[in-house]
Amino acid sequence: MMLHDLKNNTIKTLDNHMDVPYYKPIAKEIEVFEHSYAQKLSFLLKGPTGTGKSRFIEFMAHRLGKKLITVSCHEETSSTDLIGRYIIKGAETIWLDGPLTTAVKTGAFLYLDEIAEARPDVIVAIHSLTDHRRELFIDKLGETIKAHQDFMLVASFNPGYQRGFKELKPSTRQRFVAVSFSYPQAKIEADILVNETNILEPDAKKLVNIANKIRNLTELGLTETVSTRLLVDAAKLIRSGLPKRLAVHVAVVEPLTDDIEIVSALNDLCDLMI
Ligand SMILES: Nc1ncnc2c1ncn2[C@@H]1O[C@H](COP(=O)(O)OP(=O)(O)OP(=O)(O)O)[C@@H](O)[C@H]1O
Ligand SMILES: [Mg+2]
Repeated sequence: MMLHDLKNNTIKTLDNHMDVPYYKPIAKEIEVFEHSYAQKLSFLLKGPTGTGKSRFIEFMAHRLGKKLITVSCHEETSSTDLIGRYIIKGAETIWLDGPLTTAVKTGAFLYLDEIAEARPDVIVAIHSLTDHRRELFIDKLGETIKAHQDFMLVASFNPGYQRGFKELKPSTRQRFVAVSFSYPQAKIEADILVNETNILEPDAKKLVNIANKIRNLTELGLTETVSTRLLVDAAKLIRSGLPKRLAVHVAVVEPLTDDIEIVSALNDLCDLMI
């Protein structure tokens, strides 16, 4: 893995000679992705935090033997960050390709994580890449480049945010094949915990039961509820020797809310279940 620090470490390149990332399929997402790749369609991963979106794309890149370039979008992410810029080196000004241009030229997967956070000019920049044209216009160079045949654009989007809510326009959404990620069935989620952390199966099942109990408490009004990621963290702490209840308090309950009464009620509830 290589990190090039263009801006706040938001770009990550995953080369393909690492171990296969572990990914447990939830539905038909692998098949859908493979066909989308074959048909050169862009792909959107929708879903709440911690549901395996990033893990899935890492797995797919590995499975298809592709290099994966990830850009974590935030409100400052601009088309220049993606396409490239002139930089001054000694007495010279040289052009430096951004991650999008690199992916377009080399046929890598470009993963725009949290695409809705990025500035509008990012959306404009990718439009011509996500339709039949498959080309990128680099305005600073006055050049248009055709995408390498293996180039694929993948983006993630969390539709659930209530605060700082950002939508994707239909004209953008409709350029992607989209798959929803959510909390897996209990059996699958327990398998994920066992695989990720080596926790004992009965404990994994208890953690999943706790999660499903809290997920059903919609009256709590949480922005986002217990994710698989939180359960993995709790399982790791248990594996590491922390008392089970404490592990659940700090890894599952506390990250969910700062409301003291809710925390205390959830802790009591969890204590009954593990
Ligand atoms: N289907 C799955 N197979 C294997 N591991 C999973 C799966 N789903 C979730 N996980 C576990 O949950 C963790 C969080 O998943 P991941 O980072 O992919 O979430 P995400 O959807 O990208 O979240 P965010 O929106 O916050 O970026 C992973 O590190 C992994 O341990
Ligand atoms: Mg992610």
